[in-house]
Amino acid sequence: MCGIVAYLGDENAYPVLIKGLKRLEYRGYDSAGVAILKENDIALHKCKGKVSDLEAHIGDASTDGTVGIGHTRWATHGPPNDINAHPHVSGDGELAIIHNGIIENYSTLKEELINRGHKFESDTDTEVLAHLIEEVRSNTDVDLFEAVRISLNEVVGAYAIVVMDRNNPNQLIAAKKSSPLVIGIGEDGTYYVGSDATPIVEYTKNVVYLEDEEIALMDRQTGLKIKTIQNREKTPYIQELELHLEALEKGGYDYFMLKEIYEQPRSIRDCFRGRMNLQKGMIRLSGIENFEDKWTNAKRILIVACGTSWHAGLVAEYLFEDLARIPVEVEYASEFRYRNPIINEDDIVIAISQSGETADTLAAIKMAKKKGAHIFGVCNVVGSTISRETDSGCYTHAGPEIGVASTKAFTAQVTVLTLMALTVAQKRGTISPERLHRLIAEINSLPDKIEQTLASNDQIEFISEIYKDASNALYLGRGFTFPVALEGALKLKEISYIHAEGYPAAEMKHGPIALIDEEMPVFVIATQGQSYEKVVSNIQEVKARKGKIIAIVTIGDTEVKKLADHVIEIPKTDDVLVPLVSVVPLQLLSYHIAVMRGCNVDQPRNLAKSVTVE
Ligand code: M6R
Repeated sequence: MCGIVAYLGDENAYPVLIKGLKRLEYRGYDSAGVAILKENDIALHKCKGKVSDLEAHIGDASTDGTVGIGHTRWATHGPPNDINAHPHVSGDGELAIIHNGIIENYSTLKEELINRGHKFESDTDTEVLAHLIEEVRSNTDVDLFEAVRISLNEVVGAYAIVVMDRNNPNQLIAAKKSSPLVIGIGEDGTYYVGSDATPIVEYTKNVVYLEDEEIALMDRQTGLKIKTIQNREKTPYIQELELHLEALEKGGYDYFMLKEIYEQPRSIRDCFRGRMNLQKGMIRLSGIENFEDKWTNAKRILIVACGTSWHAGLVAEYLFEDLARIPVEVEYASEFRYRNPIINEDDIVIAISQSGETADTLAAIKMAKKKGAHIFGVCNVVGSTISRETDSGCYTHAGPEIGVASTKAFTAQVTVLTLMALTVAQKRGTISPERLHRLIAEINSLPDKIEQTLASNDQIEFISEIYKDASNALYLGRGFTFPVALEGALKLKEISYIHAEGYPAAEMKHGPIALIDEEMPVFVIATQGQSYEKVVSNIQEVKARKGKIIAIVTIGDTEVKKLADHVIEIPKTDDVLVPLVSVVPLQLLSYHIAVMRGCNVDQPRNLAKSVTVE
């Protein structure tokens, strides 16, 4: 949560900062601000609201200066207002700081600093850092880099920070622990900093991902120097970015979410490309090949994730148990990490995370690692913290997902997890070569089937118009489509603010059925397959209570058509792959309903894309 960006170079910093902040806005949009240094003067502009509000707030004011820092905030300490907006400045006005993370011992530090005469303006933990650095600097004979390093040893919590010195236009200082931070290295002493690489990619492909407890000095003349906060010199490890600029644009769509829904045929293809051999009926995933023994001998798989990624984990539970015959437990990372779980050395822990930065998921894998389990990551963002913390893994290759509501990341996660379950099944001999061959061919046809499903967009928009004013909605699925029901409900509530619940269809009669009346839309995934007849009975139960049924059915279905108020047809596929197709109409439904209700689809209220606080 929170996006940070910084620039040190020969051009004006402001356009780089504003563009970078717009790219990082998915990380939080409660307030935004920049601080730009010109002739030993820090020009500070910040306000509540989005980056566009900041631009309006700045208006014609001067933004000249070739070094600057910027921040977009997801509020943790103190309400979203102008004063709590970053950057924050030290009491003596000598330094400005931006911060993503939480300083857990901020109140103790603040009290000590108040006793030493410091006066605070905001409610934030970040301002405490600014004063702490000022205090260290005033009591010791060290430069700012050292003062920041010493100060960070006092701090408990998570931080990605950039510090700018009023009297030194040649340097910026950055540091990180548990929150992400990337440094871009341009030409001739030019540096870029971002919470991720999106503000950097159009200027340079050379980046350094700071590690936890590392502090970096960027200097126009002497270059980049990295140390640990314990004062150990490090050699910067420069990597080449794989990100492409076009992937960060809306490409003619009104919203990133819609673009990302429509990208799914491509993103799923990118996900399985090079990993399946259609002719030989084989799948190869190096992350599994390299640890084959661990997988073939695994006694249990534990999956840790949050939100949509947790739903992908639930699909994986069905996949691994059905195909590879390994027992699976799916855990909310936030619960798992705090409940003293039993973890054994022959367990495999799969961490699923689009961003690869989710704090709870990261903490869960760190804990499991200590207990000796093998940790496998399913991440989308290349080079993200979780992808680096795991023993092995598979990237989902969905490309940047910018809409806060996860869509193509979910289908890419489920695709990777399907390939994983099939690889392990193949190695453990729990799947016949014929079935494996058939499933590989079927996976290969998924992009076309999703394309076909997307062609129902107009009909889905029509249905959305009818239900856009509902106050509640129920989503039902069974077996492989139960997690899809949960995901459909999450999509609707997070972007349209309609209360929605996902349930296993048969559980409905144990409680939620009491909610059903003629006002209640009930979205049912009723595709042909194992539980079809049972789901038809559940639909009958809803109809008997006058509920409105919107059913996702297999093309050619006649039975559900007789009962449902509306049907959306999707192409037939194998039971184990139905989640990948059936979720698409539910994504579109949520999208249209949210647009019709006037909601900001890409930046729903109170949310942030990357949840780097617990
Ligand atoms: O980046 P992650 O996959 O770890 O994020 C997990 C959740 O925060 C995320 O899936 C969230 O639930 C989405 N907003 C759902 O659309």
